[in-house]
Amino acid sequence: MLNTERIRTDFPILQREVNGFPLVYLDNAATTQKPQAVIDAIVRYYAYENANIHRGVHTLSQEATNHYEQVRRQVAALIQAPDADSVIFTKGTTESVNMVMKCWAAPQLKAGQNLVLSWPEHHSNLVPWQMLAQANGLALRLIPLNAEGELDLSAAESLIDGNTGLLAIQQMSNVLGSLHDLKPLIAAARRQGAKVLVDGAQSVPHLPVSVQDLDCDFLVFSAHKMLGPTGVGVLCARRELLDSMPPYQGGGAMIKEVWPERHTWGELPYRFEAGTPNISGVVGFGAALDYLEQIGLEAIWEHEQMLVAYALDKMKALDGLTIYGPQHAAQRSGIVSFNLEGLHPQDLGEILDQQGVAIRTGHHCCQPLMQHYGVSGMARASFYLYNTPAEVDTLVSALQRAQRLLQRRQSRLRQT
Ligand SMILES: Cc1ncc(COP(=O)(O)O)c(C=O)c1O
Repeated sequence: MLNTERIRTDFPILQREVNGFPLVYLDNAATTQKPQAVIDAIVRYYAYENANIHRGVHTLSQEATNHYEQVRRQVAALIQAPDADSVIFTKGTTESVNMVMKCWAAPQLKAGQNLVLSWPEHHSNLVPWQMLAQANGLALRLIPLNAEGELDLSAAESLIDGNTGLLAIQQMSNVLGSLHDLKPLIAAARRQGAKVLVDGAQSVPHLPVSVQDLDCDFLVFSAHKMLGPTGVGVLCARRELLDSMPPYQGGGAMIKEVWPERHTWGELPYRFEAGTPNISGVVGFGAALDYLEQIGLEAIWEHEQMLVAYALDKMKALDGLTIYGPQHAAQRSGIVSFNLEGLHPQDLGEILDQQGVAIRTGHHCCQPLMQHYGVSGMARASFYLYNTPAEVDTLVSALQRAQRLLQRRQSRLRQT
């Protein structure tokens, strides 16, 4: 059991009020809050260590380089990457996907081949593939959802065939919260000789994820969804694929030698990190990983399972509330998307905000999924290690208040 009372004291923002109420932050799938340790690590870096990396012989530059490279090793250990050089720092999941699209898929995949994705894919793992499909004449195939809002695995196996070049798939939906069973899909892709990219933006922050266990070729995720700063992400790829890939951008740090008219590419991982990277962000990410490690991802996952079971139980009892995705906590993470009959999700979000409850509303960068459910948007509550059952109670009473406001509005309308 997590000691949330103690954990919450590590997050300064959780002490603040919003609209006169204590903040109930339930927008963790968008970005998480940062503990003081992460904020301090960034401040300490700028106050005492700041220097450019990989370039200087002076002490500060060497210290900053060591710190940056140590975080790379920490990331490799987190996801069981066999080799820290196969961990590339990017701006975030979106840039990592685009890097794979431009540097591996665009030169490799040819007309007649197909890309297999899934319906609930975030736009970050859909739009880049649409761009490539148009440019290279590839077919896009989306694995459908079954009635329970899970991936239809039997349909999936028929979509993956000998012409599939890549299976690019999320491990966890940022809307439905469903944790997909990727193993059979990855095995099917392997049998057909296709490569596999796993979008771990919503899974890596919440439960142990191993590239070896998944047997994927590419894993992508973002630091800001796991207590780290914005502007830092990860692409972890099989070394032989990275070795075969051209650089993403040209500039400093990615070269071996440069002549007036040509250059040779640098070694991994620097070949994919042109220019001065987000050093302070990576340092902050290291502090976030230390924090998560100290608490343990297994314990965080258990905590979220407890919260989502509690939330589902309470929310299902509310009249007029539709909950999307799997209805059992065992198949989902701490994400619950819903709509309240008669209220636009944005109005609902505003009513909740008046009571200090921060949820997300809109299409959640998943417009095809909204089309699947025939809605323009949804409201979403998403939990993390610092959320408590008492905050779920606050959410539920804020929803009840929204219902009462709606009923009053409807009865006023009837009277006029
Ligand atoms: C499943 C999923 N993939 C990709 C992304 C994109 O992440 P970022 O905006 O950090 O690049 C998100 C962000 O919400 C996400 O939830």
